[in-house]
Amino acid sequence: MKKVKIKSPANIAFIKYWGQRDKKFFLPYNDSFSMNLSSCYTILEIEIIEEPKIKKLYVKDYDKDKFEIKHDESFEKVINFYNRAKKFLKVKKDYGFIIYSYNSFPKKAGIASSASFFSALALGFSWLFEKKLDKKNLSILARLSGSGSSCRSIPDGFSWWYKGNKSNDSYAVSIAMPSYWDLVDLVLILNKGEKKVSSSEGHQNVETSNLFKYRLLSLEKRIKEIKKAFFKKDFTYFGYLLEEEAISMHSVMMTQKPPIFYWSGKTVELIKKIIEIRKIGIEGYFTIDAGENIHLICQKKDEEKFLKFLKDQKEILQIIVNYPEEGAKFI
Ligand code: DP6
Repeated sequence: MKKVKIKSPANIAFIKYWGQRDKKFFLPYNDSFSMNLSSCYTILEIEIIEEPKIKKLYVKDYDKDKFEIKHDESFEKVINFYNRAKKFLKVKKDYGFIIYSYNSFPKKAGIASSASFFSALALGFSWLFEKKLDKKNLSILARLSGSGSSCRSIPDGFSWWYKGNKSNDSYAVSIAMPSYWDLVDLVLILNKGEKKVSSSEGHQNVETSNLFKYRLLSLEKRIKEIKKAFFKKDFTYFGYLLEEEAISMHSVMMTQKPPIFYWSGKTVELIKKIIEIRKIGIEGYFTIDAGENIHLICQKKDEEKFLKFLKDQKEILQIIVNYPEEGAKFI
């Protein structure tokens, strides 16, 4: 076989990864927890080339109809990951390859586009190097891409990333299959542009926020409580914790030096509307990653009611409806 095709989902974090206690191995300060997204994914093809000097990356954006060759930092990240992957898997031989990658959604807009891409590439490199890895080692490999959250796109459904003590015990596992809970993530696109500060840049300065140590303290309890609420399917408490967590992470972002403001006025307007509509029994909760777009988490029974309500909101350019999904796989 000279070529394989892989599909891997983005994920939305219910408990966030923000800050690295080890910057070389991308080890997080805390455990994090996420759900894989059915409609936000990367399709990646990797072709093996006889000539090892040939290494190429072609990308097609969700709104384009042609693949474009990349020579920018995205290509550099692929090469850095290739070298780290070789080291991790103790591969000596040099390989030539061509990658074609397509994203089903706007990239770098706070929908974890690098998580879907790098988790797919982790599977791609394991194939290229002829290594059959279990999910644990694939998750570690994905983490070493530098997009830490990609390790949560390897397992199926709902993933828990254990922060671990060292590189070989920091990885994500599935704590429930996609069918466990019929949660829906309505991604509300308010801006299709790319964010100005990347997560990798943001991670570097978390320690400069005076709130960071309080965030870590408060996380100890929130992490335990959200796991309990999840296994009880207590949606109201789960949602409360979800919002508390998003606000906690963004408070750190806004107080680190230099501060990062991912939210826009539109983000705040919509947050208020989501809180308001709960009062009439349409129950949904917001969470936000590194971007201005909102992830509205509700249960399947309320999906239609929300879609009806949201279609009249002028801030929203597009809605992407997501259900829990399997992890990275060959297709
Ligand atoms: C705010 O370093 O994994 O989304 O490289 O952009 O994928 P990317 O980011 P990464 O940090 C993710 C930060 C976050 C929170 C989260 O997903 O846990």
